[in-house]
Amino acid sequence: MSRYVGAIDQGTTSSRFIVFDREGSVITLAQAEHAQIYPAPGHVEHDATEIWTKTQAVMREALEKGGLQPSDLAAVGITNQRETTVIWDRRTGKPLHNALVWQDTRNDRLVAEFAREGGRDRFRDLTGLPLASYFSGLKLRWLLDHVEGAREKAEAGDVLFGNIDTWLVWNLTGGTEGGLHVTDVTNASRTQLMSLKTLDWDAGMLSTFGIPKAMLPKIVSSSEVYGETRAPFADVPIAGILGDQQAALFGQTCFTPGEAKNTYGTGCFALMNTGEEPVPSKAGLVTTLAYRLDGQKPAYALEGSIAITGALVQWLRDNLHMIKDSAEVETLATTVEDNGGVYFVPAFSGLYAPHWNEGARGLIIGLTRYANRGHIARSVLEATAFQTREVLQAMAKDSGIPVKELRADGGMVANNTLMQFQSDLLDVPVVRPKVAETTALGAAYAAGLAVGYWKGLDDLKRNWGVDKRWTPKMDAGQREKIAAAWGRAVQRSFDWKT
Ligand code: G3P
Repeated sequence: MSRYVGAIDQGTTSSRFIVFDREGSVITLAQAEHAQIYPAPGHVEHDATEIWTKTQAVMREALEKGGLQPSDLAAVGITNQRETTVIWDRRTGKPLHNALVWQDTRNDRLVAEFAREGGRDRFRDLTGLPLASYFSGLKLRWLLDHVEGAREKAEAGDVLFGNIDTWLVWNLTGGTEGGLHVTDVTNASRTQLMSLKTLDWDAGMLSTFGIPKAMLPKIVSSSEVYGETRAPFADVPIAGILGDQQAALFGQTCFTPGEAKNTYGTGCFALMNTGEEPVPSKAGLVTTLAYRLDGQKPAYALEGSIAITGALVQWLRDNLHMIKDSAEVETLATTVEDNGGVYFVPAFSGLYAPHWNEGARGLIIGLTRYANRGHIARSVLEATAFQTREVLQAMAKDSGIPVKELRADGGMVANNTLMQFQSDLLDVPVVRPKVAETTALGAAYAAGLAVGYWKGLDDLKRNWGVDKRWTPKMDAGQREKIAAAWGRAVQRSFDWKT
């Protein structure tokens, strides 16, 4: 049996390849960023070919760094930024357009058109999702409407659709030379084209959105051997696929209904495992697949998706040049005692859960002559925690299970000030696990289970341990006061773009 399992973690800003051992420790890792393309306000694109090239490069580099051969890998798993939409020519392997990134809002008119009849929630029962610019179905529709010749070619089966998982598997397994065209249930549940009950493409959704079935991948489980790699190296089983937020839930071993995690990345995504039946949301969350292991019943989740959290820190760095690197936001934020009355609502892609307001736009409010750079930095950090509070409150309402302790992961969990403030604001402990790479680990777990590298979920649970725990220190009066001010700021950001 090979010694390790590898995971491709293809995220919004970078592609990584990480190799894990049986204890879930990182053996070797390589990472490469790719270009963020912003052609117009609200438009966000990636070059899918660049993503594939960089994915191959990091796979080779990580093995080389670790002194490993492909044969040291028992399997490879894939986890990916979800909803980001690629269409490509089956014969040439070339994308017909840059990928529309999940944050892209250019399909907002389509969203409004479909919501006019029956409202924003008309497809919730079937798909678990509200109508929103976020999900892939209407991004795909926009591409079919705007890229010349795409629809005819798609109908003939010559143009394929995929989220990034699908694009990578197709390329890894040979591309134009017979690449596999598949997606797992978790990614498929982000398209708004799959029925939550049948776990198959829904004919009614396809005809309503005008999507040709011939271009869609086959929906598979999250953990089974789909095929073997042919590039960048041969013969390693590809055996796990999970959307990145579901992968983090899996990596955090939230296998029991009621267990929840929040990942602090570009955005924040809080997921709670709700068990074998989908739980409909009335409080503005989405119902999504958590995972489905081969031959087993699916597990569902409730999700609170927040578009902009860590991305706001990057914006402070790249667009305002207020800090040189992301970590500096904490240094700056701790030069002041509190936010000085300043609130920053980062509605850069509208607002997702629980508000779903496409027309919301970012604002900074509460400025006086007293406010300085420290207060702005603090309001940037606090925005992440306030938004998380909103989605966790919605989660408690929908599930009837209050979150008693929050498992946190993602880049921002290194930020002590934020984690303490988060615990204060939620009034529950926030816990960081020993293995912080939970997203890649989740994909590795799914792949390793499929090939018998790990025997079962108990093996995985044993790998989880606490690294750090933050406990609440703020008094209730203060908490309610600042949360109410945040709520008023959010209301003001609504419907700016009409
Ligand atoms: O739904 C979008 C999400 O999957 C993106 O995650 O970590 O790449 O920002 P991340």
